Amino acid sequence: MKKILVWDLPVRLGHWLMAGGFAFAWATGDSEVWRLAHVFAGGAVTAIALFRLLWGIIGSRHARFASFVRGPRQALGYLKDLLRRAPRHYAGHNPAGGWAIVLLLSLALLTGASGWLAYQEMGGEWLAEAHEWCVHLMLAVIGAHVLGVLVGSLAHRESLIGAMFTGRKLGRPEEAISGQHLLGAACLLGWAAAGAWWLAQ
Ligand code: HEM
Ligand code: HEM
Repeated sequence: MKKILVWDLPVRLGHWLMAGGFAFAWATGDSEVWRLAHVFAGGAVTAIALFRLLWGIIGSRHARFASFVRGPRQALGYLKDLLRRAPRHYAGHNPAGGWAIVLLLSLALLTGASGWLAYQEMGGEWLAEAHEWCVHLMLAVIGAHVLGVLVGSLAHRESLIGAMFTGRKLGRPEEAISGQHLLGAACLLGWAAAGAWWLAQ
């Protein structure tokens, strides 16, 4: 195995913008003064999660849901192998990580939707509470996600975090993707800005 390109630019850019946007929205959620910035950052996270759904269908090989969303049996099997210190190496996402990704994207969309409805003052106090609950759930999954990334990095002796910056991981040459998808990344940035602006109206 050698270092090959697995994560295209829309995946990497989308990931770090979502992580940064989440942290910012989390830090500003309580404040009236920061409300517009909060809605903009949270809106960007929501728009990027929506874009990621489309990219999971039309994106490059390892970004596609079909390449990493697996049943619970495979996810549990991977975790058991991890406990036995003999996990199988995947060039893309492993089956347990795949579940965290689906959960994170779904929760980001639910958080954004409940936040937007609360912002529009539709539905009353329970919507603000639903928004807060979505954020708590998301925090729990993010904790598990980051723990999984750290354990996976140790188990495979490979920096998965570094790979989310460079796009390169260990794999067989035939598993590499062919390009960075610059046009996809430009569309992502435009869509995220437009989505955040629209949600903040
Ligand atoms: C992933 C993105 C988001 C995160 C992590 C997030 C996080 C939070 C947090 C932590 C609070 C404080 C809850 C509390 O303790 O009362 C909050 C409140 C709020 N958020 Fe978000 N939020 C996100 C997206 C959004 C979006 C997209 C909108 C609107 C378009 C929005 C609108 C609001 C509003 C209006 C409140 C105040 C609710 C109230 O207490 O009346 N949020 N958010
Ligand atoms: C500082 C905290 C975080 C770190 C260090 C981190 C790290 C990573 C790494 C290394 C991967 C690739 C996993 C693999 O190799 O299979 C990944 C994937 C992913 N992470 Fe995170 N993450 C963080 C926070 C977040 C947050 C806050 C979200 C959601 C709002 C998130 C959502 C995702 C998603 C959706 C993927 C799949 C990427 C894709 O295929 O598009 N992450 N993360």
